[in-house]
Amino acid sequence: MSDAVRAIWKELEALPQRNLNDLFEDDARIAALSGRIEWEVADDMVKALGGDATSGVLFDWSKTHLDDALMSGFEKLAHARDFTGNRDAMFDGEKVNNTEGRAATHTAQRGVGNEAYVEEAEALHLRMKMLVEAIHEGALGPVKHLIHIGIGGSALGPALAIDALTRDLALVDVHVVSNIDGVALEQAFAACDPATTMVAIASKTFTTIETMTNAASALKWLGEGGVDDTYGRVVALTANPEAAVEWGVDETRVLPFSETVGGRYSLWSSIGFPVALAVGWDEFAQFLAGARAVDLHFQSTEGRENLPLRAAFADQYYTRLRGCQTRAVFAYDERLGLFPDYLQQLEMESNGKSVTSAGERVDGPTAPITWGGVGTDAQHAVFQLLHQGTHLIPVDFIASIAPGDDLDPAHHRILLTNCFAQGAALMAGQASEDGARNFEGDRPSATMLCDDLDAATLGALIAFHEHRTFANAVLMGINPFDQFGVELGKQMANSIDAGGQSFDASTEALLAAAGLS
Ligand code: F6P
Repeated sequence: MSDAVRAIWKELEALPQRNLNDLFEDDARIAALSGRIEWEVADDMVKALGGDATSGVLFDWSKTHLDDALMSGFEKLAHARDFTGNRDAMFDGEKVNNTEGRAATHTAQRGVGNEAYVEEAEALHLRMKMLVEAIHEGALGPVKHLIHIGIGGSALGPALAIDALTRDLALVDVHVVSNIDGVALEQAFAACDPATTMVAIASKTFTTIETMTNAASALKWLGEGGVDDTYGRVVALTANPEAAVEWGVDETRVLPFSETVGGRYSLWSSIGFPVALAVGWDEFAQFLAGARAVDLHFQSTEGRENLPLRAAFADQYYTRLRGCQTRAVFAYDERLGLFPDYLQQLEMESNGKSVTSAGERVDGPTAPITWGGVGTDAQHAVFQLLHQGTHLIPVDFIASIAPGDDLDPAHHRILLTNCFAQGAALMAGQASEDGARNFEGDRPSATMLCDDLDAATLGALIAFHEHRTFANAVLMGINPFDQFGVELGKQMANSIDAGGQSFDASTEALLAAAGLS
């Protein structure tokens, strides 16, 4: 950490800790701490949205402790960490992933950033679109089901997007299988007919043991189910097309993506194939367009007005200055039930680091633990701790103004009023002389209020969190694009599986108990 950065943290530490309720004495607070990101709505959707030509998300950070003094301090920190330079380097396709010597080009998938990477992404999207449309038109025979096999970034995004966007209609019934535990794959088999099923093998490296083992079992299942040309039913989504062809996938059904797209940032690339297949290409294009709107905002907005950066200011404040070890996200929308899982990988695999990009030990905490669930369910399970527990936990709420259901409007009204009530109650508290009934209040939250939860909005929400994660990484001086921390466990599993090596006494005893030594 440079002397300048250390001095700024000292200044930030010295600022008075103010109560949230007092901060609202400032009438300008809402305007200062909330902002919208918007995008144009596709023509055929304008009517459905009541004639509005734009849609968007309101990012309300007013119930956090950020005030003018804190935001000025964090703006200085961003300047000292060369936020603008780092951000521009990412968009320009420079090798911001310094430990692996790679660029990070997920925004190019949305048409923003380095021209050569954007052109490459467009060409690969075209290839994917042609395959998706050929399948929809029946060129590969009847396809009713897709078993999508992948893990981590090759599964969490497709699972989230399919769960969120196909509640009403799926053009193809998609089952995402990630776990090596055969129970997961058997469950997908039970729901599919081999005669009308395709298999997508999603793996950036095309070497991940869980994915390759599941893929082999899926191929066997197709054969046992009477499919003659089993390989003819397989699509590969990968940054290692040679390995896919060598494995047996026909070149015409290999959908490559660039090595510079990180695993947990890959939903926008051919890893999004199952999403496009399930919702149709036009919807997938809307998904990219929502993310693009956030990219353009993030790329061109400076200081506290930059909404993902402003969110990162609050994140840094709570993690470093208030000692918060976790941050929770609650979607008041059943369709976003998998959003906390998605964010866990995005934030914890990106920023769960102990060294800076220069390889020095970090001076302070890095990513908080991300967790969460859906409202209102979570209110009846974990909110007790949020309101009265001894941990201070910043909470994010996500909700949609338009309902996702066609039932009595009471459902959606009660859903939204509960969401807003939780933020209000966390902040206001309620004094009582009876300690068990006392709510201290002054507990922070942020609210992301979407006009609607459609494909574009989901894209925008994910892109917002990608940029928030990146902004946090820059403020901490770490590289969010590598993940060496997952390697040691993988190596040990391989050594144990290979046999012939001895391990610690506890592990040896477990292996013996399971009959594996
Ligand atoms: O083990 C972690 C990881 O490398 C993730 O970063 C990645 O998303 C996942 O494994 C799957 O990797 P692949 O897509 O190469 O199979």
